[in-house]
Amino acid sequence: MKNDNSNSRRKFLQQIGATSLFAAASPLSSLAASAKAEERILTYNKKISSNDKIRIGVIGYGVQGHFDLRTALKVPGVELAGICDLYTGRLENAKEQFGKELYTTSNYKDLLDRKDIDAVLICTTDVWHARITLDALAKGKHVYCEKPMVFKISEGHPVIEAAKKSGKVLQVGSQRVSSIGYHKAKELLAAGEIGELNMVNAVYDRQSSIGAWEYTIPKDANATTTNWDTFIEATEKMNFDAKKFFWWRAFKEVGTGVAGDLFIHLLSGTHLITNSKGPENIYSTGQFSYWKDGRNLPDVMSGVLQYPKTKEHAAFLMTLQVNFISGTGGQEVIRLIGSEGIIEVNGNNITLKHSLMPEAPGFGGYDSLFTFSKSMQDEMQKDYDAKWTADQRKRKTKEDIVFKAPVGYDDHLDHFTNFFDSIRTGSPVIENAEFGFRAAAPALSCNESYLSKKIVNWDPINMKLK
Ligand SMILES: NC(=O)c1ccc[n+]([C@@H]2O[C@H](COP(=O)([O-])OP(=O)(O)OC[C@H]3O[C@@H](n4cnc5c(N)ncnc54)[C@H](O)[C@@H]3O)[C@@H](O)[C@H]2O)c1
Repeated sequence: MKNDNSNSRRKFLQQIGATSLFAAASPLSSLAASAKAEERILTYNKKISSNDKIRIGVIGYGVQGHFDLRTALKVPGVELAGICDLYTGRLENAKEQFGKELYTTSNYKDLLDRKDIDAVLICTTDVWHARITLDALAKGKHVYCEKPMVFKISEGHPVIEAAKKSGKVLQVGSQRVSSIGYHKAKELLAAGEIGELNMVNAVYDRQSSIGAWEYTIPKDANATTTNWDTFIEATEKMNFDAKKFFWWRAFKEVGTGVAGDLFIHLLSGTHLITNSKGPENIYSTGQFSYWKDGRNLPDVMSGVLQYPKTKEHAAFLMTLQVNFISGTGGQEVIRLIGSEGIIEVNGNNITLKHSLMPEAPGFGGYDSLFTFSKSMQDEMQKDYDAKWTADQRKRKTKEDIVFKAPVGYDDHLDHFTNFFDSIRTGSPVIENAEFGFRAAAPALSCNESYLSKKIVNWDPINMKLK
């Protein structure tokens, strides 16, 4: 299938050029009156020769399979060669979109056998990720695999080894790690703008049935139309259950709950920004607050993770939170808190506020001083005045920083561009198997901790449970 993306690319670049002028007057920048606003212009208008064509197959053509394919096809020189899915309605949908001649199958191994496919996008239910990745690499395909890279921690090293051995590109699909906003946060943290990092509070709240994964189930869903027997080849034997096929995230037999779905984004984002390899201790707890729909993984969950001091960063504590019945209306934010300020990452946008301690220690005001005798107070005030100048007693101020991505900016497109660039030029991907596993393992450990009510100890360097 051909895609004409040169036109849309041109339009996109024009749009960015036009919007960058207005960035300084955007609502985000006006949050802080004295804030600096910064804009970045994207530069990926590349010429693609016919030898550079990359033909892709999609395995798992549900919601994210659609978004991933749509985005991948925006990258110049990328063509669709085939789609695989287990549910018949989604293969019909694929033919309706791309024409009757499109190759479709419900057996991903047949798609992997095709010589005209260079790369596959693996967008299936989590439980299938590692298995299909291993098979795809063995067949010499480059792989873009959705997050979490693995369903079980034991699958991590085999995937890492297979990727190395194959010499093929493996990109994990946490597209936020390609965001220019995240890279800006990384730059500001490294520049010491918030002093020494000591805490990360990361939140992903929602308040809707779809947000809580109750997606529409088609009327014809049954064991035959969903190829149920194939679906459960990667799981324990289970009778057909439409919810376990279409609302799989909420069931531990096939899904990884809020941890694998959303903590993982917060973890991969934090690891990118801090250059961290991961936490050493992981504790998590959760409850069933509202979505009483048969799910067996919580709809409200928190994690507390201790990151050790390393040469990349100071020791910091991370709190993770997902609340699916949140009266906030929903929010996604990573707050990086340091000794001299805070960086808030909201999607592709960043705000940085400083707060600096005065050089002089506190004295008077809400203090024990006034409880002493008058003569003691006077004497100590004299000592303090002799020791500290007025300047040393004041908090120094520093300008806040606001970074706003251009309107129309798409981190997902950057993530795919990075993947296809890597296939073409051998340049490294932003989210390789090690990175993907280092985010997946603590996320999966949150489920383990919740289920066992124990702290999970993890070796982030060697990527092993302790
Ligand atoms: N990066 C992101 O922001 C993001 C967003 C949403 C979902 N995801 C990830 O994408 C993946 C898919 O999520 P979704 O929301 O599209 O789910 P979905 O239920 O809409 O789609 C999953 C599809 O995979 C198919 N499938 C399952 N096993 C298969 C197999 N063995 N062979 C072929 N097809 C198979 C199913 O038929 C289904 O159509 C998940 O891993 C999820 O974590 C990532």
